[in-house]
Amino acid sequence: MIKKCLFPAAGYGTRFLPATKSMPKEMMPVVNKPLIEYGVDEAIHAGMTDMCIVTGRGKHAIMDHFDMNFELEQQIAGTKKEELLGDIRGLMNSANFTYIRQREMKGLGHAILTGKPLVGDNPFAVVLADDLCVNGDQGVLAQMSALYNQFRCTIVAVQEVPESETHKYGVISGEMIKDNIYRVDDMVEKPDPGSAPSNLAIIGRYIMTPDIFDLIEETEPGKGGEIQITDALLKQAKTGCVLAYKFKGERFDCGSVEGYIDAINYCYENVYNK
Ligand code: G1P
Repeated sequence: MIKKCLFPAAGYGTRFLPATKSMPKEMMPVVNKPLIEYGVDEAIHAGMTDMCIVTGRGKHAIMDHFDMNFELEQQIAGTKKEELLGDIRGLMNSANFTYIRQREMKGLGHAILTGKPLVGDNPFAVVLADDLCVNGDQGVLAQMSALYNQFRCTIVAVQEVPESETHKYGVISGEMIKDNIYRVDDMVEKPDPGSAPSNLAIIGRYIMTPDIFDLIEETEPGKGGEIQITDALLKQAKTGCVLAYKFKGERFDCGSVEGYIDAINYCYENVYNK
């Protein structure tokens, strides 16, 4: 069983400035919950118990969110308003939260490597909180965790995107070995228009085996001068096995204004108060 879930959450969220000037982008609310809470909820529903969060400067609000607020609790104790804290109390009681700070922004690969002391020598999930995923009873991480139990190797979540969008993502190619499961033979971080190996884009859900840490350490800066997890995963695919899984469910790119608004509308209709 995968028990650890890593949340790289040190990035600046520049696309949402000025909102993210002093507030972490992971704390942007989708209706009444911050983005990262949706990710934690998904991980807990997948049976994970250790939330390992890679933070950075100005991210205290994330730690405070998953902690007690005694003043507030006392103020609303015994009133109707207390119910509004039910969900977050449930999450806090279901998992351990540990934090480590990433001092420099050197890319997603570097952020994941920063989380190594929290994850240890265990397979682990990775959630990029600005990709909000929703799927009824079985969330995307639960689907991937079940697949991991079967295949015991690294898995990336993928989604078909129009060719005009491939330059925004890591893109894979591979042979389909089962319905919705591909064995990855190539992956490219944000390919230039017209050069993507397919239209299967990686979205922010991964399960990784811990040998990925050594591979990240050997990875040179790639696209944008950053240490890309996609490049380390390609090495793993060449020397071992990486699967890509076309998941069931809706995904919203809350790193973009349009995706964020779509997520709010969808969650208001389908998730809020359900
Ligand atoms: C990151 C990854 C990319 C992936 C994307 C999913 O990019 O580098 O491979 O497709 O997340 O959201 P970012 O969106 O952080 O630039």
